[in-house]
Amino acid sequence: MDKTVERATFREMKEGTAQDWAIIGGEYRAFARGLADRVLDHLRLLKGDFGGFPVCRLEHSLQTATRAHRDGRDEQYVVMALLHDIGDTLGSYNHPEVAAAIVAPFVRDELHWICKHHGHFQGYYYFHYLGMDRDAREAFRGHEHFDACAEFCEKYDQAAFDPDYESEPLSFFEPMVRRVMARPLASLYRLEEPAEAAE
Ligand SMILES: [Fe+2]
Ligand SMILES: [Fe+2]
Repeated sequence: MDKTVERATFREMKEGTAQDWAIIGGEYRAFARGLADRVLDHLRLLKGDFGGFPVCRLEHSLQTATRAHRDGRDEQYVVMALLHDIGDTLGSYNHPEVAAAIVAPFVRDELHWICKHHGHFQGYYYFHYLGMDRDAREAFRGHEHFDACAEFCEKYDQAAFDPDYESEPLSFFEPMVRRVMARPLASLYRLEEPAEAAE
């Protein structure tokens, strides 16, 4: 371990000092700037994971985002589309909520809602084949974002399983992910940059 790296000295948080938190705060800013890279790395875990589908989960993600982009959607929307299934690896029983939590600080409320609830709306296209209720989305009928979520699934998500579709590569979307994730719109943990960094 590198002994020259500055570290906080408390053993319990209640012993913490301003000096400790200056160290941790500085580290946090640098760590947070690497978020887009970590998210992109995690998205790549979906490559080759077919789960019986005609395309792998990464291709499905790229195709969903490509279809949204080619339909003229803005960058926040396209990034949400790209990441909407990123929760499949860690949230096998609640993947929309995992993705929604990741995009939440960076996208408008409508897009967060779409991401969080797309599972119920996507079910309209297949739940009845698995003994479930294809109308599960009706629980949200009347919500202000109901139609937007239904449109996302109809136009992009349920349509993104075509092995012959020419999707853009992940490299095409990387700059968009970096721009959208460069700065949170809202976060409990949003720290102001120190004055000396704002030259
Ligand atoms: Fe999904
Ligand atoms: Fe999907």
